[in-house]
Amino acid sequence: MVIGFEVITLFPAMFAAVSEYGVTSRALQAGLWRLRTWNPRDFTSDNYRTVDDRPYGGGPGMVMLAEPLERTLDAAQAAGGGRVIYLSPQGTRLDHRKVMALSKESAITLLCGRYEGVDERLLARRVDEELSLGDFVLTGGEPAAVAVLDAVVRLLPGALGDHESASSDSHYDGLLSPPSWTRPPAFRGHAVPEVLLSGDHAAIAAWRQREAERLTRERRPDLWAAHEQGTQDAPDGA
Ligand SMILES: C[S@@+](CC[C@H](N)C(=O)[O-])C[C@H]1O[C@@H](n2cnc3c(N)ncnc32)[C@H](O)[C@@H]1O
Repeated sequence: MVIGFEVITLFPAMFAAVSEYGVTSRALQAGLWRLRTWNPRDFTSDNYRTVDDRPYGGGPGMVMLAEPLERTLDAAQAAGGGRVIYLSPQGTRLDHRKVMALSKESAITLLCGRYEGVDERLLARRVDEELSLGDFVLTGGEPAAVAVLDAVVRLLPGALGDHESASSDSHYDGLLSPPSWTRPPAFRGHAVPEVLLSGDHAAIAAWRQREAERLTRERRPDLWAAHEQGTQDAPDGA
């Protein structure tokens, strides 16, 4: 299934990061996903193409006007549709589970804020969900939207080549991925773990699993606890 992304942004050029580079660009060329950007400035009605104004009640910065965004969303939704997701530091934090769910949608509209954010009435009327990249504040929603696009597209069947696999990555099965090594076998006095050179695939798989569990226990006790819980909850033989 192809996912169509409609992205509402004042800075469409920032999406070259996913349309012109690497895996996501190849997947775009291969027709696995579609990208259209919509600039709210193109939906203004004054000579200055105004998209923001001062906040009611005073305070610093500017707020994105509801009217141009309403018109932009009308156009984007008519063309592509899908759930409207506003990238926001106040949203639910993005994680692998959410990315997996998004990768199964057929159309998604991403709304990128700028300045101090967006007029609340527009959010209340048009947004289905708010997603955050983390507990920090970006200058705009674009880097967060790029992160969503990148993470979702690499999960699409066929996006990664045969030699790449999302299933061995961190978070796919609730664990961090084991460390990786490549040539040479010794680098400045540090040797590659012997088992990786053994050719014994079962031993390598078991070693990788142990390393993944060790790293997760040490670095992310929260993930480890959830993993343990899931393992214990699994029915016999599952
Ligand atoms: C400077 S921020 C506005 C922050 C807002 N005044 C607040 O404190 O919640 C401008 C825009 O960046 C985006 N943004 C900022 N931090 C983000 C985050 N952690 N995740 C996703 N989007 C974010 C949002 O689209 C937001 O409208």
